[in-house]
Amino acid sequence: MADSVPALEARGLWAAYHQQPVLENLDLSLPQGEWTAIVGPNGAGKSSLLNLAIGSLAPVRGELKLLGQSAASQRRAGSIAYMAQQEHMEWDFPISVRETVLTGRYGLMRLDPLWQRLAPRLWANPSHRAAVDAALEAVDMADHAARPIGELSGGQKKRVMLARTLAQQARILLLDEPLAGVDPPSEALIMATLESERSAGRTIIMVTHDLPGARRYADNVVLINRTLIGMGSPDEMLSDAMLARLAVGAPEIAGGMRVAA
Ligand SMILES: Nc1ncnc2c1ncn2[C@@H]1O[C@H](COP(=O)(O)OP(=O)(O)OP(=O)(O)O)[C@@H](O)[C@H]1O
Ligand SMILES: [Mg+2]
Repeated sequence: MADSVPALEARGLWAAYHQQPVLENLDLSLPQGEWTAIVGPNGAGKSSLLNLAIGSLAPVRGELKLLGQSAASQRRAGSIAYMAQQEHMEWDFPISVRETVLTGRYGLMRLDPLWQRLAPRLWANPSHRAAVDAALEAVDMADHAARPIGELSGGQKKRVMLARTLAQQARILLLDEPLAGVDPPSEALIMATLESERSAGRTIIMVTHDLPGARRYADNVVLINRTLIGMGSPDEMLSDAMLARLAVGAPEIAGGMRVAA
């Protein structure tokens, strides 16, 4: 059965930068169609895990699969949409909010019929516009659609990048601290949107430091500190005892790691 394939599965996963391990022997299986919050201290390897999941960081050892296939093939298929913790982008580039969100659809436009690609203004596939409009509404940025992105505040930029991710309508959303710097009313709106995305069958995998938010919305919480500390229900994982264990980290990683030069 297709749904029994995990959305994300890591087996004996090791990752390193400059031969310094940042993830050690991680085993993880996240179900499809659920909201998983990934929690851990600064430097625990959470963003690195998402980088592995989008294929921008290669494992040193072990493997990571999305819906049973490699990150690269799922990325090509448009199955995953990713929002980085910090966007490396040129905010002064003269592009509007709407155009920025539309860039999220570029991968999907490859799949449009030839005539739609050749005559974009007249015949553009209306689904792109509808997806962009819905995503802008979801983060309450529709009123700013025509503004240059360089004019926006930090929290508004974050909301636009989340809209860009939502507009992709991917099966799996990989979100790295999407609410950092976002004001409480926008945060509530975004969480409600993600909840309806989840209800529509999408998988949400979200790195967060917002423990009350994880407790309220997530189906599962994964605790990571260089390796898996625990996975379970929010109540179970966000108990004082588990959070104390998370702060201390894994006792001893068996086996050590030799990183190829
Ligand atoms: N590009 C890089 N080059 C070298 N070291 C890196 C790089 N990216 C991350 N690291 C290191 O890897 C470790 C894990 O970083 P990572 O960004 O995955 O942590 P994180 O759990 O996302 O932390 P935070 O909560 O601060 O975002 C840290 O020690 C960090 O310094
Ligand atoms: Mg991070």
